[in-house]
Amino acid sequence: MGKDVIIACDFADGKTALDFLDRFEGKKPFVKIGMELYYSEGPKIVEKIKNRGHKIFLDLKLHDIPNTVKKAMAVLSRLDADMTNLHAAGGSAMMKAALEGLTRPDGSRPILIAVTQLTSTDAGTLKNELLIDTPMAETVMKYAGNAMRSGLDGVVCSPLEAKKVHENCGEKFLTVTPGVRFADGDTGDQKRVMTPAQARLEGSDYIVVGRPVTAASDPVAAYERCLKEFVG
Ligand code: C5P
Repeated sequence: MGKDVIIACDFADGKTALDFLDRFEGKKPFVKIGMELYYSEGPKIVEKIKNRGHKIFLDLKLHDIPNTVKKAMAVLSRLDADMTNLHAAGGSAMMKAALEGLTRPDGSRPILIAVTQLTSTDAGTLKNELLIDTPMAETVMKYAGNAMRSGLDGVVCSPLEAKKVHENCGEKFLTVTPGVRFADGDTGDQKRVMTPAQARLEGSDYIVVGRPVTAASDPVAAYERCLKEFVG
């Protein structure tokens, strides 16, 4: 898969999500299904959106003991998502077990990426609550390296970190980057943002865009603008 824009379909129910996607008439954007939509609708929402011809990033961020994650990933592998994820904080044994669970009997599997540190975790939380004295940037790079050595395909990170992740983990190691805003748009609660064009220059492989598209008065035009800036 090449560079692409993934729309974060952060909606409370399936009807709202499907009505939103109906507006794209004939276009089939890559769709992120997160916890809110998945917990509200269950696995059938993945099947429904997939059957409409969209690629799916199932963003459930698993984090548990290796055996539990392996078995959960085996269940998720049946949903035919194109990409899914877990928390690198679960450790290498958990990440390796996840890959085993996710691999289908025919050897195929969705892309598996790891969340390094959540973008909502700031330096103060890292030091004072998680008791991690290592600076954020170093922690993110270490977690990315752990993910790579465990056999994963990439990480979710800030576009600001994409270049460094590629330098450390190789060009083929994927960087999937939220925190994207148009130059003339609202940043909302995202603190460290980049435009789609800047994310492209930093080497992001996929940008994850939610509200700049979902809350736009013309979501299709906003999506097209992202594609034009990011993919060209
Ligand atoms: O609306 P917005 O563009 O901020 O949406 C970004 C999406 O990416 C949301 O679904 C959010 O949960 C997700 N995300 C993020 N930061 C991370 C991991 C995921 O913003 N570190």
